[in-house]
Amino acid sequence: MATSKQLQFLANDAIALEVFEGLSATPKRLPSKLFYDHIGSALFEQITELPEYYLTRTERSILESFAGDILQHAGTSLTLVELGAGTASKTCILIEELLRRQSRALFYPIDVSPSALQEAEAQLGRQFPGLRVNPIVADYTGGVPALSRISGRKLVLYIGSSIGNFEPDESVRILRRIRRTLRAGDALLLGADFAKSPKILLPAYDDSQGVTARFNQNILARLNRELDADFAVDRFRHVALWNRRQSRIEAHLESTTSQTAFISALDLDLSFAPGERIHTENSYKYTDAMIESILRDSGFTLEHTWCDRKKWFGVHLARV
Ligand code: AVJ
Repeated sequence: MATSKQLQFLANDAIALEVFEGLSATPKRLPSKLFYDHIGSALFEQITELPEYYLTRTERSILESFAGDILQHAGTSLTLVELGAGTASKTCILIEELLRRQSRALFYPIDVSPSALQEAEAQLGRQFPGLRVNPIVADYTGGVPALSRISGRKLVLYIGSSIGNFEPDESVRILRRIRRTLRAGDALLLGADFAKSPKILLPAYDDSQGVTARFNQNILARLNRELDADFAVDRFRHVALWNRRQSRIEAHLESTTSQTAFISALDLDLSFAPGERIHTENSYKYTDAMIESILRDSGFTLEHTWCDRKKWFGVHLARV
């Protein structure tokens, strides 16, 4: 049972509530969206450049090879929308190709981070004079009602395998909410990582330089900073494992000793047995059948898939 001090705090803060629930549960868990404070976002940028982390560079190469073909399929006179745009660094490839076909275009990047959107707006505005950038600060997982007021044909970008952090039924709910704000002729471009050998997958999520370990441990460092907690961060070891049955990589933080922690802002006492884990992330790896069924169940029809030669990563165009 939560104390009155806890309830007062939880009522004001959805994140605090998720932390409270997750760490009170057995097994313990934390929401992976907590990774992305300023430090975690910088560590993720570093991850995208690691030799073992093939996802970003493989998706970029697919977009570079097929941008023309992708836009051809999406249709003429497009307005671009991007879910979880961040700084929209891969989106330039599509924007550049789009502005070869039409002299002007609108781009609606959607993200929870106002600072990332500001950076995207400044950067893209400078690079592409024909582009009008209209940032939307929102958590797209709840749907974005403003999208239904955009006139003309839309191409919604959901790239980077961000969808991989959600369980398939959650992904369907998110895509359905987006689908409701679209019209006939609109399309979705979904970037998703394919299932493959754990010999390739595991190093991508447990790199030799330990950047992914620091990325994972930062979640506890963040609780120390923001919720006045006292986790001994270096007594939690990064564990990445391949869950074949669920077709996902899991990230955990494993307590190396018997220890306790106190989260002052939640008035929450925790204890950890040696080897006990906090589950911090799922990263789903898809088969063609999984992609097809997620899209179908959310009201889209898969129209075309582009991938690299090894079929490590897929970019899927789905129509309303
Ligand atoms: C940003 C969700 C695509 O799952 O590959 C990278 C996050 N986690 N290394 C992924 C991540 C550990 C990443 N996504």
